[in-house]
Amino acid sequence: MADPLNITKGVLALADEQKTAKLTLGDKTLDLPVLSPTAGPDVIDIRKLYAQAGVFTYDPGFTSTASCSSTITFIDGDKGELLHRGYPIDQLAGKSHFLEVCYLLLYGELPSAPQLEDFEHRVTQHTMLHEQMMNFFRGFRRDAHPMAIMVGVVGAMSAFYHDSTDIGDPWQREVASIRLIAKMPTIAAWAYKYSIGQPFVYPRNDLDYASNFLRMCFSVPAEDYVVNPILSRAMDRIFTLHADHEQNASTSTVRLASSSGANPFACIAAGIACLWGPAHGGANQACLEMLREIGTPDQIPEYIARAKDKNDPFRLMGFGHRVYKNFDPRARVMKESADEVLDLLGIEDNPTLQVAKELEKVALEDPYFADKKLYPNVDFYSGIILDAMGFPTAMFTPIFALARTVGWISQWKEQISDPQLKIGRPRQLYLGETARDYTNVENR
Ligand code: CMC
Repeated sequence: MADPLNITKGVLALADEQKTAKLTLGDKTLDLPVLSPTAGPDVIDIRKLYAQAGVFTYDPGFTSTASCSSTITFIDGDKGELLHRGYPIDQLAGKSHFLEVCYLLLYGELPSAPQLEDFEHRVTQHTMLHEQMMNFFRGFRRDAHPMAIMVGVVGAMSAFYHDSTDIGDPWQREVASIRLIAKMPTIAAWAYKYSIGQPFVYPRNDLDYASNFLRMCFSVPAEDYVVNPILSRAMDRIFTLHADHEQNASTSTVRLASSSGANPFACIAAGIACLWGPAHGGANQACLEMLREIGTPDQIPEYIARAKDKNDPFRLMGFGHRVYKNFDPRARVMKESADEVLDLLGIEDNPTLQVAKELEKVALEDPYFADKKLYPNVDFYSGIILDAMGFPTAMFTPIFALARTVGWISQWKEQISDPQLKIGRPRQLYLGETARDYTNVENR
């Protein structure tokens, strides 16, 4: 693969010596190097800006700032394109499956048949949790949100798997990666089982990744449980569609946490915490709750009006994206899956689904949403499928977290092996008081 930035050699060098950007500050003009990526817009390299000009840049929300270089995932928001290691997401969702995509994200290439078999075997061998970890689940209140349980239990893994916390050792990094991918379904399923008061179901290594997860969520010791292959395919596709999404908020959180040298389990717990928010992974839960709150299609105009009202904080959940300004390619595949699953389950008259279909239509025709390029995102449809499968809304974001773990891990591994790694330490535009003398309390 082309490596114009010389990343693999550890030297972030100029792709094109001629390309520079001029910055004029008072009577000073600086030539800033411009780096050319393999895809996407050029990047102005401002690493030496403070040293040379004594100024910072200001970009809250990182709307124009590349926080790292990466070779894993690429998004072209205007084209609605999402590539993992160069492969389009619709091809991966249609032809591949989650564990193969995990391999691709982690190691950079699609596996050969023996490589895939070996990888699946390694993941399968790590699906069980240390038995004592059960006590962590039992320590939570029954009504704890499963994301709260996941943050706690994944963080606690650092206290159980001491032989995979040395981030300086590539072998330990590898073991930690496999453990996280393998154990996350067990952790998410147990968080769910605990919340409904049912016994924990141990993983079964003769099942594929998605079927095993469904079984751990929905089987009970009193009855046999047969996994429906269409549901397990849909589950696998949901995992695949959420596997990675370049430098989003939770991934950047994982990278920032890891930049200090923190252990892998703590870093992933930080990513889970960030994902939970309704502007990010929490949107799938918020979206379905919103659809239920709307209740019937005749209520839609009121909610559309609220979403457009600048004085009302309400937003249409499942709409809009920082990067996609045309369509979310994941949403397209997810919509197909939703149709398949609903068809299989014979769900046509579901009121939530009716509201969703009508809301999508009304919003897409409304100039406010069209002008601001607000389209349904992946979370708009995923909640509908998960609801139809029988998951409560509180489980939607844990399922996103389970799937995104491989993305977090891949980005974490890439960052650690980057010789340019520095602790992440943003600057600020300080607008507070300047230095002043302390006054004793009696004089205030
Ligand atoms: N409903 C109504 N108005 C919206 C919405 C929405 N869902 N999203 C954005 N806008 C408006 C916003 O008010 C702003 O208007 P104005 O320019 O007049 O101030 C404009 O569109 C741009 O919005 P922004 O907040 O500056 O855009 P952003 O890139 O910072 O935010 C977003 C992106 C996803 C946080 C936002 O669209 C949103 O809150 N959507 C709802 C939550 C959601 O569905 N999140 C899931 C994202 S996909 C899954 C994932 O990757 O986590």
